[in-house]
Amino acid sequence: MQIFVKVARWKMNPLALRIISSFTYFVFVVPCHFLFRGFLARNSLSKLDYILEGIKKGPIAHRGGIPENTLTAFRKSKTAGATAVEVDLQMTRDGHPVLFHDDAIDRLCNGSGQLKDMTLEHIKTLDVDGHAKIPTLHEAISAIKELEMYMLLEVKCYNNQTVNIVTDLFKSDPELYERIVVISFFPHILYQIRRIDPDIIVGLVIRQTVFTVDPNNPQKITNKWKLMLLRAVDRIVAGLLLGFVRKVLGLSLILPHKVDILEERVDVKYFHKEGVRLVTWTVNLDEEKEYFSNVLQLPFMTDHVLSQELQQ
Ligand SMILES: *[C@@H]1O[C@H](CO)[C@@H](O)[C@H](O)[C@H]1NC(C)=O
Ligand SMILES: *[C@@H]1O[C@H](CO)[C@@H](O)[C@H](O)[C@H]1NC(C)=O
Repeated sequence: MQIFVKVARWKMNPLALRIISSFTYFVFVVPCHFLFRGFLARNSLSKLDYILEGIKKGPIAHRGGIPENTLTAFRKSKTAGATAVEVDLQMTRDGHPVLFHDDAIDRLCNGSGQLKDMTLEHIKTLDVDGHAKIPTLHEAISAIKELEMYMLLEVKCYNNQTVNIVTDLFKSDPELYERIVVISFFPHILYQIRRIDPDIIVGLVIRQTVFTVDPNNPQKITNKWKLMLLRAVDRIVAGLLLGFVRKVLGLSLILPHKVDILEERVDVKYFHKEGVRLVTWTVNLDEEKEYFSNVLQLPFMTDHVLSQELQQ
């Protein structure tokens, strides 16, 4: 009995919880979900390559440019030479898809609170960066069509309407199959989208330092053992995603963080041989841009569509 009392009182720190929940998720939930429903056929390479050829003529504006996820940003990015925008999809309380990066509106808007608790009507009264508005997904799509740009649509939310909203979008406008790639950190969202419509091109976003570097709390982990354990967790999760999960989802596109490529945790040649295309993020320095576009010939997202020289 003593042991149960001890376990019941055991206070897990947030890191331990993150590790355990991720392991449970990847090792049990994801494989079970997939195995009972079957593997998916490979996403069309010719369609993906058609889109990537268009995108490769310039950089991809990360979060659409400045101000993030706004139509003003798309126009500025296009003028600066971007061929595509990467944008973040979220849902309002009343079920409207809008583009916004953070959960809370505080950093970017003249207001405060969680976006998912607000109605579209309220969101439309807010300013982004003083002069722009949060666009709906439909407004954003009209804009990229008009600007003749491509879109990498990152699905950030678990909301069960999102999958249907995304798949309906393509059904109602077949031109979008050749203009939009749906991307996400969450394999189950991509799986659900492809199960409904296998023709939608999707890509899995991955960063292999999820446990060793917390972007919200970037202080270095000093304990050697803890760091080793976390590195191992990072590698196992990434291995599952790049191998097993990629095959079950039938992915032809992976979006690794640039550091994973620069530090050779993602082997560009191997994926090339496998017929898997790579797009990386977020490449801001001129030398890195050179390296990715000229040496590796990989499309990349950037916060700075213009070169550093031209920005000054
Ligand atoms: C944000 O700014 C707009 C325009 O300046 C204004 O109409 C709106 O009421 C402001 N919203 C809040 C919550 O302050
Ligand atoms: C989606 O989630 C909501 C609330 O969580 C639930 O009421 C609704 O039935 C769900 N819809 C579907 C199609 O699963």
